[in-house]
Amino acid sequence: AQDPLVIFTPSGKRGRFPVGTPVLTAARQLGVDLDSVCGGRGICSKCQITPSYGDFSKHGVHVAQDALSECNSVEERYDRVRGLKTGRRLGCQATVQSDVVIDVPPESQVHRQVVRKAAADRVIEMDPATRLFYVEVAEPDMHDPTGDQQRLAKALSEQWEVDDLEVDPKILPVLQKVLRKGDWKVTVALHRSHAEARPRLIALWPGLHEAGIFGLAIDLGSTTIAAHLTNLDTGAVVTSAGIMNPQIRFGEDLMSRVSYAMMNPGGEREMTAAVREAIDTLTADIAKEAGIDAGLILETVFVCNPVMHHLLLGIDPVELGQAPFALATSDALHFSAVELGLTALPAPARIYILPCIAGHVGADAAAVALAEQPGKSEDLALIVDVGTNAEILLGDTSRTLACSSPTGPAFEGAQISSGQRAAPGAIEAIRIDPATREPRFRVIGCDLWSDEDGFADATAQTGITGICGSGIIEAVAEMRMAGLLDPSGLIGSAEATGSERCLPAGRTHEYLIHDGTAGGGPKITVTQGDIRAIQLAKSALYAGARLLMDTRGVDKVDRVVLAGAFGAHISPKHAMVLGMIPDVPLDKVTSAGNAAGTGARIALCSLKARREIEATVRRITKVETAIEPKFQEHFVAANAIPHATDPFPELKK
Ligand code: FES
Repeated sequence: AQDPLVIFTPSGKRGRFPVGTPVLTAARQLGVDLDSVCGGRGICSKCQITPSYGDFSKHGVHVAQDALSECNSVEERYDRVRGLKTGRRLGCQATVQSDVVIDVPPESQVHRQVVRKAAADRVIEMDPATRLFYVEVAEPDMHDPTGDQQRLAKALSEQWEVDDLEVDPKILPVLQKVLRKGDWKVTVALHRSHAEARPRLIALWPGLHEAGIFGLAIDLGSTTIAAHLTNLDTGAVVTSAGIMNPQIRFGEDLMSRVSYAMMNPGGEREMTAAVREAIDTLTADIAKEAGIDAGLILETVFVCNPVMHHLLLGIDPVELGQAPFALATSDALHFSAVELGLTALPAPARIYILPCIAGHVGADAAAVALAEQPGKSEDLALIVDVGTNAEILLGDTSRTLACSSPTGPAFEGAQISSGQRAAPGAIEAIRIDPATREPRFRVIGCDLWSDEDGFADATAQTGITGICGSGIIEAVAEMRMAGLLDPSGLIGSAEATGSERCLPAGRTHEYLIHDGTAGGGPKITVTQGDIRAIQLAKSALYAGARLLMDTRGVDKVDRVVLAGAFGAHISPKHAMVLGMIPDVPLDKVTSAGNAAGTGARIALCSLKARREIEATVRRITKVETAIEPKFQEHFVAANAIPHATDPFPELKK
């Protein structure tokens, strides 16, 4: 008679196995993704499966109740002590008796897919670089003179087919104690990377380690440092936290930090020390908030712009401040925490830094490319990550291009007369009635809403403190639509516009949004200087996008993705009225949320993704805005609102 047929779902993999074959063995032979930390000893419970009994006639398979063996004593003990969900079996204990269909639930798959909850749900396939292995090591005796490390390596080779083990030097001092404490049974964390030939032991615990291991995805920005603490087994984000980048005291923007390093001998070392200290503080805080030991954080992935990248690594960024903007290195980088001078993480914890695209287009842009995958887009996608610098990607399946454009801090509410960061009290959205030219606005943290969208007139609001980036963008666009502003960006007088709110201010005019009397607070106006600052920022952004389109030989794109925390708050219509982005149908403008942070999380959870982005970055065409004469031309033409020459037919609809 034929051996029983075993079919695994959802993979559909199948094969015949002799009666008595453990399900885990069958899974391994077929290459089915079934997890195991204890190597089939019935203690880790990672191998749980569900024998499926149902109508599987389409496979031509008859499935009987006794398709798997009865629970054995190991499984029964496990069930008694820890409890197995109804219908679940331990794949390493249950053996095949007759034809059977076996379902591997998502939590038992190493490469399970995790859905990221964000603006657009995205699937991350788990393929972590660091995994746990439970192993039983032979005790030393007088006849076997090998060292403990060598016997551990031998056990890993025999029990897990892990060969050529490398032990992190920081682990050696604790190795003997842990082995003896665990009575020669230990759980090891092995880091296997595509860049390093040998698997590296980076942590070990006596017995079966059940507290899990974690990773940090860190988006190291010039203003803020944001971290997501992620469970490396499940891919779930446990806690997210952020901290201000203390380098702000050396300069608000990147170029002022480069200047600081140029002007002050040792300045780059001060900035490196400051940012590493902040990362240590953030690591300790996030572990505390999550209630885990920071010693369990075994991997960290960084994404950052080139200047932050160099300052994190302790490299003087001076070359990034002058043409030809050479990076010290653009490759993806691998370190241990101790090599990078981080002390809150365990010393052997692994650090991965995404590759940089070019001197002005950093690992953060690479992370956006990893999250948004322009190279897999059927239609031509323009992806804009708006911050102090805008990173811009243009791509589809045939080719991806990237550049960075110096938009300056105006889009974040800085260098604006009443500007402030997006915080309670900030006007974040504004509407100006085209007939009356009266403003209605929405204030962060103010609950005196007068309509469904939260817009109210000035008299109904209290506690207004300023206007943030999205507020000022909307204000300028609304002023243009209400005829308060001409295409060159000039604010009209009260006589010319018919609005009493257009007040004289020296030789120019300003538009009064809030006079500070109703509800208190400062007087808030949009000045001619504010309009100019926004014009400069939006011209830089548009010119960067246009330069990529020129290089690609197109004069329109199919869709626009606004990334970055700020991107989530910009209204597509206002961005287009202003001419920040090229003309596309409004429903083709989407927000990707913090795409750089998402890219960091994907790289943290997946070696495959790391390989992919490293290959992608090598293929991306880099366009340097600073030396391209066309950039200046586009910049000047983009100064008008929305644009001096480029048509915006979608706005007319
Ligand atoms: Fe660990 Fe089955 S493999 S319990």
